[in-house]
Amino acid sequence: MNKFLPVGIIGTGSYVPEKELTNLELEKMVDTTDEWIKTRTGISKRRIADAETATSDLATKAAQIAIKDAGLLPEDIDLIIVATVTPDMSFPSTACIVQKNIGAKKAAAFDLEAACSGFIYGITVGEQFIKSGIYKNILVIGAETLSKILNWKDRNTCVLFGDGAGAAVLSQVDEGYGMLASTLGADGASGDYLTQPAGGSRIPASLETVENNLHYVQMDGSEVFKFAVRIMAKSALQATENSGLKIEDIDYMIPHQANIRIIESAAKRLNISMDKVYVNLNNYGNMSAASVPVALDEAVRNGKIKRDDIVSLVAFGGGLTWGSSIIKWAK
Ligand code: ACO
Repeated sequence: MNKFLPVGIIGTGSYVPEKELTNLELEKMVDTTDEWIKTRTGISKRRIADAETATSDLATKAAQIAIKDAGLLPEDIDLIIVATVTPDMSFPSTACIVQKNIGAKKAAAFDLEAACSGFIYGITVGEQFIKSGIYKNILVIGAETLSKILNWKDRNTCVLFGDGAGAAVLSQVDEGYGMLASTLGADGASGDYLTQPAGGSRIPASLETVENNLHYVQMDGSEVFKFAVRIMAKSALQATENSGLKIEDIDYMIPHQANIRIIESAAKRLNISMDKVYVNLNNYGNMSAASVPVALDEAVRNGKIKRDDIVSLVAFGGGLTWGSSIIKWAK
């Protein structure tokens, strides 16, 4: 008999800022075209937070929707994990700011940084506390305002990203349901392919770092692309095997939404038909840690994911990091 409690997602929510930035508008800002962006990435538009809006504001809205969807109150939450690379500030953590905003007085709170893999890292960490009986309800949020750390003069990066937040509430579910297996991984030796170099203890903020654009995202796109295709397929396969299932058993896949060509290549390697794969990057671009939970929330609300479905979540990101979870949907 399994001595651990079964853990699943009992509520989801998401929120994106109202302001849309289309490829056509970007044509006026940098040397790019709608055609290039669409054919090379699949992205048509993205949402951008205004100057007054920080990551915690998006996270708070997504969290409130997820808690309501779970049929809980903020006071029922024992722990808040916010996955982000764009926290409001170094400290206090964005999770502590969300805790205050939603009034989750009894919750512990911390941020987790695994870039675009952050939400899958977050639910995998949260799962441990519930399956061991330590906590009952955990709120995991992936939230980003990447627009604040993009160089809007660098066409290699600024066309790719968008802002948003997605949240999920983890709790005990019926036996045989919930998170069946997860895999997490990292390759720190390849971390230089995707960085925000300055603003930490290695290169503290100075006039010089600002002048040299060192607070912006820097990326070797083609190296990240090659890594992403390989690791998405590998980690989704590994998590599926760890759950005792086969790729054919997967009813729906929610991949990280970075580039349609990465998603299609990974699906091909896994032999999964694209009609089983959720894609919304055309509307939002890459929202880093928010991509998977926003897509998951949309797929649940659109009725694409129902009780008994086997759902595969898979992501890759800066670090470099990756993660995949297989969930038997319980709601
Ligand atoms: N508009 C027009 N031309 C462009 C643009 C643009 N926005 N961006 C790059 N180009 C040019 C390049 O300068 C290059 O020109 P050159 O040949 O004269 O040098 C040409 O297009 C082709 O560049 P490639 O890098 O070969 O283009 P590619 O097809 O590889 O697409 C892309 C680039 C979209 C960045 C792709 O490599 C990619 O998606 N990589 C993965 C990125 C990613 O997923 N990052 C996020 C990781 S997750 C996280 O943690 C944040």
